[in-house]
Amino acid sequence: MKPSIFTLILLIFGTIHIAQGLPLYKDKNAPLEQRIEDLLGQMTTEEKIQQLNQLSFGVNLNPNNKGEAVNDVDPQVGSLIYLNENPVERNAIQQRAMEKSRLGIPILFGFDTIHGIKTVYPIPLAQACSWSPPLVTQAAAVAARETKLTGIDWTFSPMIDVARDSRWGRIAESYGEDPYAISIFGAATVRGYQGASLSDSGSVAACLKHFVGYGVSEGGRDYRATDISAQALWETYLPPFEAGVKAGAATLMSGFNDISGVPASANRYLLTEVLKQQWKHGGFVVSDWNSVEQLIAQGVAKDRKEAGLKSFTAGVEMNMVDRIYADHLQELLLEGKVTMDSINDAVSRVLRVKFRLGLFEQPYTPIVPEAERYLRPEDRAVAAKLAEESMVLLKNERAALPISSKVKSLALIGPLVKDQENLLGCWSGNGKPKDVETIFEGVTREFGDNVKLSYARGCDFDGTDESGFADAFVAASNADAVVVCIGEKKAWSGENSSRSTIALPAIQEKLVARLKETGKPIILVLSNGRPLELQRLEPMADAIVEMWQPGVAGGTPLAGILSGRVNPSGRLAITFPLVTGQIPIYYGMRSSARPNDGNYKDISTEPLYTFGHGLSYTSFDYGKATLSNSKLAGDQKLTVQVPVTNTGSVTGQETAFWFISDPVCSVSRPMKELKHFEKKTINPGETVVFTFQIDPMRDLSHPDSTGRRLLEAGDFHVRIKDQKLTFELVDDDDRPTVPAPVTP
Ligand code: NOJ
Repeated sequence: MKPSIFTLILLIFGTIHIAQGLPLYKDKNAPLEQRIEDLLGQMTTEEKIQQLNQLSFGVNLNPNNKGEAVNDVDPQVGSLIYLNENPVERNAIQQRAMEKSRLGIPILFGFDTIHGIKTVYPIPLAQACSWSPPLVTQAAAVAARETKLTGIDWTFSPMIDVARDSRWGRIAESYGEDPYAISIFGAATVRGYQGASLSDSGSVAACLKHFVGYGVSEGGRDYRATDISAQALWETYLPPFEAGVKAGAATLMSGFNDISGVPASANRYLLTEVLKQQWKHGGFVVSDWNSVEQLIAQGVAKDRKEAGLKSFTAGVEMNMVDRIYADHLQELLLEGKVTMDSINDAVSRVLRVKFRLGLFEQPYTPIVPEAERYLRPEDRAVAAKLAEESMVLLKNERAALPISSKVKSLALIGPLVKDQENLLGCWSGNGKPKDVETIFEGVTREFGDNVKLSYARGCDFDGTDESGFADAFVAASNADAVVVCIGEKKAWSGENSSRSTIALPAIQEKLVARLKETGKPIILVLSNGRPLELQRLEPMADAIVEMWQPGVAGGTPLAGILSGRVNPSGRLAITFPLVTGQIPIYYGMRSSARPNDGNYKDISTEPLYTFGHGLSYTSFDYGKATLSNSKLAGDQKLTVQVPVTNTGSVTGQETAFWFISDPVCSVSRPMKELKHFEKKTINPGETVVFTFQIDPMRDLSHPDSTGRRLLEAGDFHVRIKDQKLTFELVDDDDRPTVPAPVTP
């Protein structure tokens, strides 16, 4: 076989470098692909397979990640999940890899930094309610810097599973129910983690997970099968991943679920044909924890070897913790079941990420004093700002909020008032309760000596002990207003934390009912990792603030909302069902065959709070929306605008949500789809104009079952608030009807 030009160049470069005593792959100035090729050319099969092996190191505190953690690390291993807060240890392990492995290939250290590692900020579901992608990028950059300084180069985040079943514990980790919003926030997070360049000192590699459809777990039970039509896959579940790949995410993680019978971790169509061939992703896919071995439990592999074969040939390059690749790939190669080309491709992908991270040049973590690493005031400020913008004022009647200057005494009641642990939320990295500002501290600082504060815990999160009710009743009776802080423990959401009901335990509802008997204004503050069933609580409350699980810095933002120093601007990125039995319920449902019939006979069919709901201390008046044209032809774009006036007396932030509906199409479409949003600050009396430029292929097309985007002529509606404008997409022979997939 004649050597290719590329091989010849490599040989020439290689010879020069060998003459200089430096292998080409160690030259940071050599082109990336040549470095990969050069290194690959020098690796033995065993060394290659080791690069595809990921083990975990340190103390595993996650009860769902069952399995061994190694202490004696093989210096050739490709990657470690680093369950340790000490970068010194990482450096010692890395030093062995650099010096004791034959080729000095650095280890890639990964970890679940989900919403901060020490400066823990709001859970992703809350972040989306801020509708502020720049703030989310900023927070992710804080997380990246702290993660990197912990000795970790790679985070298993963002989770961009579309989640529409609030019983599913992992809904806390998602950006809500809407594919477009998830695409935007997922990409914003990737940008924050990866910065301008992966090799920057404050950047870590992102991992889009869980590819794909894990959020559809049947009945909201974790780890269950998912039945997803090709149409839904392309319309709802894949777009956030395509957007994340476009934003440059270095890696992806394959899911635990199976998609209509084919497990995500053995799904060649998705992992190879879609991700690598169609989307041209150049990084790698890591399996989820044990998800290769779990192919046996899923009934598609008879043993570990077959599981490894299925996963590897499908396109999972790195095997998380179950050692199947390490144990069986060599054998599968000898048997001709996997090819050396496919091993080379997989190893190249892993090496590419290592080279891009600059690990060959900077394998070690700089050791800096703890105070310079974590929880710097400027980083806490970012967490506080994001918490502030994430909180949603769900209800406000009888002028309960902001708390008036006439209120001279306030009773703070509930299990969350002085809680630190649970405000962190699930997957809180190396965050510590001691670093969490409590609600009590925030409120005390906010109101100072102006308001007399009293406190009673009232009850626990669950159980039946009502012995604290009496003290709580007295405190409430003696106060001008009552702030009741209730909600979920952090372990009630996250992995393997599904619940059959999204209502709070009865004891918390009973506490509120008891306090209501005082006749005092009841301000309910909720902290939770999922939408809650508030059917019984809502009528008892004058005001409700959803503070979510804000992380380390939620006390002051919440107190600011209570006092009125902060005008709440969060809007729900997820529907709040009235009762659990309404699930599934989300705004983008398809129209029914009998739209006015078929409703539940025993409960309302309407949710309690719709997607986008959220109140402010000011009022916004939407003027008449206008379209630049009523017809769209060729590659024209259409501009739609709406003036919005702040008609109240305080400055506020308004988020405008633009939806598109396609009332007649060859396939039935969601009743409306979010296509654009924008958040703006508006001063009292000021009018600002919100604009949405409609790009037909991006905003009006729909995917077919193979992912091709189709654009069908006809009438469309664009919706803003309660206005609906109609325009026509005219038939145009020149317009491509089947172009490449498009995402925001
Ligand atoms: C299992 C979870 O599903 C995944 O999200 C996580 O990244 C891994 N464990 C590693 O902890």
